[in-house]
Amino acid sequence: MINLILFGPPGSGKGTQAAYLVEKYNLVHISTGDLFRYEMGNDTPLGQQAKAYISKGELVPDEVTIGMLHNKVLAHPDAGGFIFDGFPRTILQAEALDRLLEEEGSVVHVLIALNVDDEEIVKRIKLRGATSGRADDLDENIIRNRIEVYKNETTPVYDYYDQQGKSHMVDGIGSIDDIFNRLCAIIDTVGDNAMLTAQEEKK
Ligand code: C5P
Ligand code: MG
Repeated sequence: MINLILFGPPGSGKGTQAAYLVEKYNLVHISTGDLFRYEMGNDTPLGQQAKAYISKGELVPDEVTIGMLHNKVLAHPDAGGFIFDGFPRTILQAEALDRLLEEEGSVVHVLIALNVDDEEIVKRIKLRGATSGRADDLDENIIRNRIEVYKNETTPVYDYYDQQGKSHMVDGIGSIDDIFNRLCAIIDTVGDNAMLTAQEEKK
């Protein structure tokens, strides 16, 4: 069982890597961005509410995002673990995630941040915008606002888990395979340690 937060700025490759990681480690991938886009696509009340923020590159209010995430976690009682992608994005969301997992008798085991510089991010997101169908990928001002929001509101989450000794940073530049291998090296070490701790507790 491993719960992983895949962290990093927009366009850093979280979704791409998550798709490979779920296969290798048999995890459930929860992307809050994808969940919002699904709701927007179906024009639900939640989608309409989220759209007002997402279209500007701002964060949807914590209580809305936390409620949606909570439901998604509870919908997978038999999961072998989760990859949280794009969540938590604020300290309040991180605290809520810790509480939720604690209720389930679990914890966040590790946070891995993909490190990618701003200009590379802008380049990647613009490229993605050509095919993603995402309005927030098309406008450079919105893209830059998402980067600012990440720096101001989201990076403290890295420090929050760093204080628990759980945060790691990997170079997010390189081939998909190379970056995948960097992630696996950390996950395997954390997974081994978690298993040893569990065995110790049983004794
Ligand atoms: O994670 P992703 O980049 O796909 O998220 C797209 C948008 O969804 C963000 O720019 C933000 O407006 C919104 N979002 C949010 N809170 C989250 C995840 C996504 O407000 N935890
Ligand atoms: Mg994504």
